[in-house]
Amino acid sequence: MVDKKRKILLDEEDIPKQWYCILPDLPKPMPPLIDPATKEPGPGIVPQIFPKEILAQEMSQERWIDIPEEVREVYRLWRPTPLIRAFGLEKALKTPAKIYYKNEGVSPPGSHKPNTAVAQAYYNMKEGKERLATETGAGQWGSALSFGCMTFDVECTVYMVRVSYDQKPYRRIMMELWNAEVHASPSNKTDAGRKILEEDPNNSGSLGIAISEAVEDALNHEEANYSIGSVFNHVLTHQTVIGQETKKQLELVDDYPDVIIGCIGGGSSFSGLMWPFYYDKVSGKAPKDIKFIATEATACPSITRGEYAYDHGDTARLTPLVKMHTLGHDFIPPPIHSGGLRYHGIAPTLSVLNQAKILETRAYNQVEVFDAARLFIKSEGEIPAPEPTHAIKGVIDEALKCKKTGEEKTLLFLLCGHGHFDMKAYDDYLQGNLQPYEYPKEEVAKAMKKLKDLYPWLGTVS
Ligand SMILES: Cc1ncc(COP(=O)(O)O)c(C=O)c1O
Repeated sequence: MVDKKRKILLDEEDIPKQWYCILPDLPKPMPPLIDPATKEPGPGIVPQIFPKEILAQEMSQERWIDIPEEVREVYRLWRPTPLIRAFGLEKALKTPAKIYYKNEGVSPPGSHKPNTAVAQAYYNMKEGKERLATETGAGQWGSALSFGCMTFDVECTVYMVRVSYDQKPYRRIMMELWNAEVHASPSNKTDAGRKILEEDPNNSGSLGIAISEAVEDALNHEEANYSIGSVFNHVLTHQTVIGQETKKQLELVDDYPDVIIGCIGGGSSFSGLMWPFYYDKVSGKAPKDIKFIATEATACPSITRGEYAYDHGDTARLTPLVKMHTLGHDFIPPPIHSGGLRYHGIAPTLSVLNQAKILETRAYNQVEVFDAARLFIKSEGEIPAPEPTHAIKGVIDEALKCKKTGEEKTLLFLLCGHGHFDMKAYDDYLQGNLQPYEYPKEEVAKAMKKLKDLYPWLGTVS
């Protein structure tokens, strides 16, 4: 019986042949990058650190981009990923809602991140680069890029945020197994890292600092490029294999979502699931009006508390200014366990969608998300990474609303990674050591004032 299907699977031939690029379908054109040196629109250092094909995808006005066969061949190692009907969670919640989750935790590195890592390694290899430098927070992106680079014989250098480097030695070992060189960031390998360590030898690091280090490394070495795991358009585009597969899987059970929920660090996994459904909506193909809900951590509330402003993507201000929701480029996050949600900004594309009120956003603290994870683990068995526990909290809230109203909605969320390397987080939760931290509004206001003092002319840029 179709309705009783728990695991909805596709064949290897169903791996999408194209990625979907949202740029032509945004409600408003993306504001340009601004080069702070000229105060004019311009890409700054970006063309020096990315291959040409990635740059073209970053600005693509083509809606559909062919996925190279060599990349699809690597995808075959774990794609298509399963779509699961969460009967156990539905039963535990006594909800009339149907709950589905797309499980990206089945990839070798354990998350959605290799969908773009493999593609980026491929294009860099094709254009003759021998090495990629990158940053990593939780270790998920670093392990994905290490894996991606290994598949195309490209070397990989990873600057790993100090707090995660200390909390997650197994992720470091995983990266090393896939041939990468890993440095705790801030490190003494770069000017940016050395400067921060001189001022604060115990600095616990941030994604902003680690990005500065990786970008500096790429800028100073001809054989190397930089690679990023979120925020940029091309990264989010590569993730759209997730949503395209999900649409096919739901067709097999004759269903379509009323609500789509994901967590956002920089916004790549959520966009990967959401964009293909958004395309249905803008092209008049969606049979329903879908609600898109992006969830984040109250400790790093980039979209719910951050301003929509021009800011740098990194702490050392090497990258050009980009218009996005931001908490300020020198944001040092509290050391919460959702390492992947600790970035100060949100993808500019997602920020445009939020400004156009196409998204709903929610922020949750780390105690309530681990409570939600506990129920999910008990009812479904899977142990989620700390990041998607925010989506799980979101889906549980929506399912409970349906229980009150009796609505039989279809809820879809993204399980963007497993939590097998996050036992320290779960142990802290079980021991009652987690704090429900909220990032204060005053800190955001302070950071915005600093930004305005730094670039008073930015107020005149629309
Ligand atoms: C498992 C997992 N989920 C989510 C994220 C957040 O990033 P994004 O919003 O780009 O998906 C990360 C980032 O490292 C991650 O590792």
